[in-house]
Amino acid sequence: MAEILKYDRVDIAYNGRRVVTGVSFDLQPGEILGIVGESGSGKSTVIKAAMGLLGPSGTVTRGDIWYKGKDLPDLSPAEMRRLNGPELGMIFQSAGASFCPIRTVGAQLYESMTEHESVTKADFTHRACELLQKIGFEDGMRILNSYPFELSGGMQQRVGIAAAMLMNPSVLFADEPTSALDVSVQKQVVEEMLLVRESFGTSIVIVTHNIGVIGAMADNVLVMKDGQMVEYGETRQVLDDPREDYTRTLMAAVPRLRRD
Ligand SMILES: Nc1ncnc2c1ncn2[C@@H]1O[C@H](COP(=O)(O)OP(=O)(O)O)[C@@H](O)[C@H]1O
Ligand SMILES: [Mg+2]
Repeated sequence: MAEILKYDRVDIAYNGRRVVTGVSFDLQPGEILGIVGESGSGKSTVIKAAMGLLGPSGTVTRGDIWYKGKDLPDLSPAEMRRLNGPELGMIFQSAGASFCPIRTVGAQLYESMTEHESVTKADFTHRACELLQKIGFEDGMRILNSYPFELSGGMQQRVGIAAAMLMNPSVLFADEPTSALDVSVQKQVVEEMLLVRESFGTSIVIVTHNIGVIGAMADNVLVMKDGQMVEYGETRQVLDDPREDYTRTLMAAVPRLRRD
């Protein structure tokens, strides 16, 4: 199968200082790739580069990031805005923080959807309820009618994933989506992302320092240290038989969510 996303020897610098060197990986349709590594190893930078979110000081200085025949770092900001959302979705560590506190979740999801396509309120409600149900919410209508403060942090995070999926992106980037959550809720977020892949065939790149999350959902894992790849391969192989001491140390630091 042809890959949907391909990083080819990517270097990234902020203000001329290189922080990522020679990162290469392929993402197949429906694949879940985990990126792990200690804080500051360049995980967020790697995924921000695909979405054009490096900010004014950040640049891809070498290599290519191919998505459906386009080299993403070459795109104009306007072209990038067209891809972000409908093609490349993103969820952050604290989705809750991006909701406006005084408007219902439904009103906010509807608004973000109409930024990219014209859709009637009735169609939106139908689609949103269907989507929420597919990814494990029992009562979608209740979620849409809720104010953010009526939802727990874990629930807000799960709704953040639903919000990204409303536009049905081909690739979903998730930067530490479970890090702010209790262990029990982390598991729900992992389940939800697995349902996303199952229902929509979405490819997912998940950044986390939790090896447990990787073990529970990733097909492949890329281990980063000081902006470089130290290991890249099938999750089972990397977790069960890591080639590098660094990977071993990362694994020792956190319990796995599930062992099988
Ligand atoms: N906007 C920025 N400007 C300058 N340096 C940055 C910026 N963002 C990240 N960095 C630096 O780039 C390196 C990688 O950071 P980051 O990608 O956030 O790592 P991680 O997500 O693995 O914690 C770090 O040294 C960090 O300090
Ligand atoms: Mg980060």
